Amino acid sequence: MSKNKIQIFDTTLRDGEQVPGCKLNTEQKVVIAKQLDGLGVDVIEAGFPVSSPGDFKSVEAISKIVKNATVCGLTRAVENDIKVAAEALKYAKKPRIHTGIGTSDSHIKFKFKSDRETIIQRAFDAVAYAKSFVEDVEFYAEDAGRTDNEYLARVCEAAIKAGATVLNIPDTTGYCLPSEYGAKMKYLMENVKGIEKAILSCHCHNDLGLATANSIEGVINGARQIECTINGIGERAGNTALEEVVMVLKQHPYLNLDTNIDTTRLYGISQLVSDSMGIYTQPNKAIVGANAFAHSSGIHQDGVIKNRETYEIIDPKDVGVTESAIVLTARSGRAALAYRAKNVGYELTKLQLDDVYANFLDFADKKKEINDTDIYQIIETSNVYQ
Ligand code: KIV
Ligand code: ZN
Repeated sequence: MSKNKIQIFDTTLRDGEQVPGCKLNTEQKVVIAKQLDGLGVDVIEAGFPVSSPGDFKSVEAISKIVKNATVCGLTRAVENDIKVAAEALKYAKKPRIHTGIGTSDSHIKFKFKSDRETIIQRAFDAVAYAKSFVEDVEFYAEDAGRTDNEYLARVCEAAIKAGATVLNIPDTTGYCLPSEYGAKMKYLMENVKGIEKAILSCHCHNDLGLATANSIEGVINGARQIECTINGIGERAGNTALEEVVMVLKQHPYLNLDTNIDTTRLYGISQLVSDSMGIYTQPNKAIVGANAFAHSSGIHQDGVIKNRETYEIIDPKDVGVTESAIVLTARSGRAALAYRAKNVGYELTKLQLDDVYANFLDFADKKKEINDTDIYQIIETSNVYQ
């Protein structure tokens, strides 16, 4: 059975760049955009053109060089934003305008000092205006996570009537539980008139650490696009991590959902984004963290050396990591020591290993981690090698 394609909408260069203290110049953004295109993302959100001349320039430059992906620019539901975005996107092979407005009661009351009917009209007008420039228009209902489903369905219907091709349902504040976000998508799939003319998109923030789980629940319940960033970077606790949702779908083939991503490029692009933005990736970060394929306790090391699958659900090569790491610490056993010793050229017999291991434990108690140079010294100073 052929699988349902999930579009990957990368917003590293827009929502991702909203990380406090981070700023990329146009040249850096172009390098990242090229790599995202090579990675196989379907959409690159290149920036928010009206927000600054620098952002306009970046969206324009990215529009010129991207070969395969759709290039998208963000706007508010404001005519001038939309006009400026259309101008910045004019060189794109496949341009998309991403326009929208807040739909939760708190956004309507406090941000817009408006009412529900006026917001529906503004949503309709923004999409219709964007449609006068480009065919592909995505509408976002900001804070959809805290918008009641009945009203949200009416806003979506207005956007579809005006010509929206994608309906973005952001959990802007990272509030929803996975079951709640999934139920929201199901409700919209079943209740929005004209839904067959558009696709639903997940856009989740990670304030409660649920962004990946929520996005996966969204696509299980009918959404066909996930908005995400490399390393999950973004405002506050960040956005859905691209590498996580892509690998969840790959590792669970029975879900019948897949993406166009070349997963072997995930580690490389993670490093590029981290270095360019100067944002350190936590060692235990899923998929791309330094410890994601590192084994340190004796029991795990023994298992992995016998067969990688005992403690690894992903082949590191599938995400661009050369091999699993067997980290030598005071908690390591003989199997790990023999394995690392062999890697640096020593085939130890059982008797030799017993002796070297005693020396190793002495060393390891004084050091956090034993490196290859230490291994030479440990072996050469053991009784069996005297
Ligand atoms: O989180 C959000 O609601 C957004 C929208 C502007 C799409 O980033
Ligand atoms: Zn966002």
